Amino acid sequence: MKICVIGNGTMGNGIAQTFAQAGYDVLMKGRSEASLSKAMGAIDKRLARMVEKGKMQQADKDACMKHITTSLRYEDCKDYDVVIEAIAEDMPTKLAIFKELDAVCKPDAILATNTSSLSITQVAASTSRPGKVIGMHFFNPVPVMKLVEVIKGQLTEDDVNNKTIELCKAIGKEPVSVNEAPGFVVNRILIPMVNEGVGILADGVASRDEIDAAMKMGANHPMGPLELADLIGLDVCLSIMEVLYTEFGDPKYRPHPLLRKMVRAGELGRKTGKGFYDYSK
Ligand code: CAA
Repeated sequence: MKICVIGNGTMGNGIAQTFAQAGYDVLMKGRSEASLSKAMGAIDKRLARMVEKGKMQQADKDACMKHITTSLRYEDCKDYDVVIEAIAEDMPTKLAIFKELDAVCKPDAILATNTSSLSITQVAASTSRPGKVIGMHFFNPVPVMKLVEVIKGQLTEDDVNNKTIELCKAIGKEPVSVNEAPGFVVNRILIPMVNEGVGILADGVASRDEIDAAMKMGANHPMGPLELADLIGLDVCLSIMEVLYTEFGDPKYRPHPLLRKMVRAGELGRKTGKGFYDYSK
């Protein structure tokens, strides 16, 4: 089975690496040579660290890198069995990409989206093969996190769902089957928690470090909510809150104004060097 990943950002290159490490041939489709080579560099660096730590043999690293090829063209996605889209959380952009994929991919190819909260059914309905469209929601950092939420849209075929679950198991992930609903399972719980952490900070109830320490020690979370927001990206957190707020129409999902203000300021977390913490040094 051959895998194609659309997108070469943090999630896209993590997904490509994970499949390559499991021995699958992967095509990573990007928008520019520069971003593709940056993504290949990031994968190479992560694998090199594993070799340094004695967790991977050099020969396995070399084989893994050889499993990944890159392209700038949708036409090159045509022979792939499973195509996983991992680009920005923006419905019009996703619809445009699925239109391209629908035009070139094999009729029986599974078209998956790594969306973190948008409607699988809406993406599916824009194609001529809605039964073949499914959600495959990976978590950051992809090579480390065990979970994949496998999300069945209203029109997803059972066979496509079963094959996707088996594929997740084949790469060593733990799939959880989810029916489509805004935010699925994890983000409906996790992102409002992050948003609440932002509110607690804005109210002056506790400092950044105290909020994070409290949740690490009091709830045994590996990261506090503000540290986690910086890892996920504040823009991603905001867009998920917007989806929850709009889709449910429930004020309990209101994005906190401080989250919005920081996104407007470009303080998006690790990726911009500053969020709740400073990563510039
Ligand atoms: N890529 C690959 N591997 C990574 C990595 C990365 N970005 N970051 C850390 N690792 C690896 C390390 O190499 C290390 O591997 P070994 O044990 O084999 O040496 C392992 O992960 C642990 O790393 P560290 O010891 O450096 O640090 P840690 O123990 O603090 O773990 C962490 C780091 C795994 C990120 C941990 O803090 C964690 O689990 N945090 C929570 C992450 C989380 O909740 N993610 C979900 C975000 S929500 C999401 O993604 C969905 C969405 O739609 C928004």
